Order: sequence, then structure tokens, then C-alpha cells
Amino acid sequence: MDQFWGPEEIIKKKREYIIPCLYHFYEEPMQIVRGERQYLFDHQGKRYLDFFAGVSVINAGHCHPEITRRICEQVKTLQHVCNIYLTQPMVELAEKLAGITPGRLQKSFFCNSGTEANEGAILLAKIATGRSELLALQDGLTGRTYLTMSMTGLRFWRTDTTPAGGISFVPNAYCYRCSLNLTYPSCDLACAEAVRQVIETSTSGQVAALLAEPIQGNGGIITPPPEYFPRVKEILDEYGALLIIDEVQTGFGRTGKWFAIEHWGVEPDIMTMAKALGNGTPIGAFISRPEIADKYTRPGASTLGGNPVSMTAGLATLEVIEKEGLTENAATLGTYLREKLLELKEKHPLIGDVRGIGLMQGAELVKNGKQPAAAETDRVLERMKNRGILIGKNGRSRNVLAFQPPLVITRDNVDEMIQNLDEVLGEVEGES
Ligand SMILES: Cc1ncc(COP(=O)(O)O)c(C=O)c1O
Repeated sequence: MDQFWGPEEIIKKKREYIIPCLYHFYEEPMQIVRGERQYLFDHQGKRYLDFFAGVSVINAGHCHPEITRRICEQVKTLQHVCNIYLTQPMVELAEKLAGITPGRLQKSFFCNSGTEANEGAILLAKIATGRSELLALQDGLTGRTYLTMSMTGLRFWRTDTTPAGGISFVPNAYCYRCSLNLTYPSCDLACAEAVRQVIETSTSGQVAALLAEPIQGNGGIITPPPEYFPRVKEILDEYGALLIIDEVQTGFGRTGKWFAIEHWGVEPDIMTMAKALGNGTPIGAFISRPEIADKYTRPGASTLGGNPVSMTAGLATLEVIEKEGLTENAATLGTYLREKLLELKEKHPLIGDVRGIGLMQGAELVKNGKQPAAAETDRVLERMKNRGILIGKNGRSRNVLAFQPPLVITRDNVDEMIQNLDEVLGEVEGES
């Protein structure tokens, strides 16, 4: 690009030409023009340490040279033919996914986004069970199409006022704000037991599937206790309902394992993936074991799903994650980051809760007891950005700081972020 327009001009053009549902972070946003490993650069050359990775996408780091090289090579050789023709990268990636996903998950379908992956997984569950009713978790984000938005348990993301029917919501394992007003572990996992109650009271009993994120990202890095998913799976099995696990945000090393659900030893019936699989290239996929997958025989397609460029990006990303030990780095530095955030929690009353696994951590900001501190969250985000550090924000009340950096970060990066956060929290607390 010869000349950068700068943020003001981009905002002006956005107002003129982009549908206004698309918001951006920050009161004073910057124009981002370049990325390199864990760093982003604005149009004036200012460097930012990225602790959000484009919402859990850039696991292997920005513009990784090896991934970029392989994508460019593929673009120059064969970009697209549609999956009505035979190409090799799609089956290579499918074979690779079968190798790294839990248990018997083996057969994949490729599409272009997390939303599409979830939509497709739900269709597969309906076909395989011959049932149509669905369960979803409160505070979950499933996607932005009609059905996936209807399965989203966050009002913020439920724009459609005439949602699809046949969906029942189950309380999630949000221990910091338990909707059943109980305390773990004396609750005996009442939220998991609620799956049974909801099936018994709010459905015909013929439920196709429950769709759940293993750690709820947009919900505010809500991390269930270890017994939660094993118990939920048992209950679903009793009723012949499938478990669809949405690893769109948690997948590909982020939590210190390939997939977050592995932390609890549960084998999903169907699993969905997107985001980090392409390290920035549009991609989505769902995978299931043959007994389920093989029931989907009527025509299914996606014009760009399985295209050679995204598939090559996926293969290259998985190889880089393995070669560079990024999953191990996520486990080690995730533990370190968590310790440091817990230290800040002791010092700063604004932090009410710290939760997450690996390099997917959240800090819920509160005031006057447990009242969500949303305005303070925005101030923290803005000031961290001014100091050259980008962190994320999510949660039911938009009051949870999200730390989901590229998995290539270093211990020094964690220290730098924590030191700045410590100072910024102090400033914001001083003003409240
Ligand atoms: C857990 C989860 N599922 C699904 C989606 C939807 O993915 P996409 O934006 O790629 O359609 C998201 C996106 O934020 C997500 O976090």
C-alpha cells in the first residue's frame, strides 16, 4: 500500500459503505497495517503486543514465514476448482485432523467459518438421530446465521427477534455467577443435572444434540469444573442425544492440548473447528466418527469449502504448531500467565475472578461486590492499547478481559503485559 488512509478516513468510509452492525474496539482506534509473530504495527509504525490473536485465530503467530510461503506457493499453483473435482490438500488435512482429534472422530466436512461448521454439525446430528430438537448452553456463542444465532445464549449476539424454535437452553457451569445460586463442589454439578431436567420438561424427549463450547469464549472464558462434561455426556447418552463440541475458539493448542475437551477425557460425537485451523485463512470444519458421518449421504457442498489454499494453510499451521512445540508453550506460559493474573487479583479489587486454561485466560472486572464493571473494562482496554498492548473483551456484560495471545509469546511478553495491566488497573481503580 503506497499511502495509508489512517483511522479517521477509514471510520468515515466505514460509516458510508459498511452496514453499521459492524463495531470496532476502542474510542481511538488505530489502523493496523502489519503483523509479525506476536506483534502488530499501526500505520505510523507503532508496535503492539497482541494478546488477543484476532480472537483466538493467530495461534502460530502473525504472517508466519513458513505458512505464508506455503499459501503463496499454493495460490500461484492452484487456487480453486471447487470440491466437485479431486484435489489432494483437502484429504491430506482431513487425514491429519483424524489423527489429532479425540477418539474415533475421523470424517470431516470443510467449510469457511465457525458459524458454518456449527450449522453443518447440527444438520449432521439431525440426520444421524432422525430427531430435530436441540439443546444449547446459556452464555454460549454458536454463530451468526439464523439457526446458530438462535442457539446463542448471549443477548448481545441475539439480534434476530424471531429465532428458530425447538431449542432449549441449559444453565452453564458459570461458577462465579451460578444461575442456580449454588457453590461448587457442594452443588454436586446441579447445572449438569439440569440437562436431564430440561430434556424431561422442555422437550419431547427426542433431542438430537447439545451443542457446547468446552470453555465459553464470548461468554467470558467460562471454564467448567472437571466433572462437568463427563456428567453431561453420560446424561446425553442416556437419552440418545449427541454431544457437539464447538472448538472454534479453544482448538489447536490454545489450552495446552490440541483441543480443550481433551482436558476432561470426553469424546464428542461431533466436533467443530475454524479460526486457528487456518491461522488467518478462512476455514471451518466439522468432524465425526464413521457411524454418524456415514449417515450424511444426500448431497452436501460448499463452493469454497476444502479449497486448496485454505487446506494448505491448515496443513502448514498444524505442522508449525507441532514443529515449534506451541501446544507445550501454551501449557507452560498459560500456567505462568494464570499465576500472574491471580497475583493481580489479590492486589486489585477490580478483578473479581480469573479463569481459563492455558493461553485462554479471562479476568472478570467487578465493582461494589460483583457488579459488572463494563465501563472500567473499556478504560483498561483503551489504556493498554495506548501502552502498545492489545487485550480482548467479552462476557455477558462485556466486563471480562480476555487474554488469548498467539501461542508464540514469550515469558517476557507475559511479564510486560502483566506489569502494564497492574499499573493500568491501579489508575482505573484510583478514578472510580
Ligand atoms: C465458540 C465460537 N463458535 C462459533 C463462532 C462463529 O465463528 P465464525 O465467526 O468463524 O463464523 C465463534 C466466533 O466468535 C466462536 O467463538
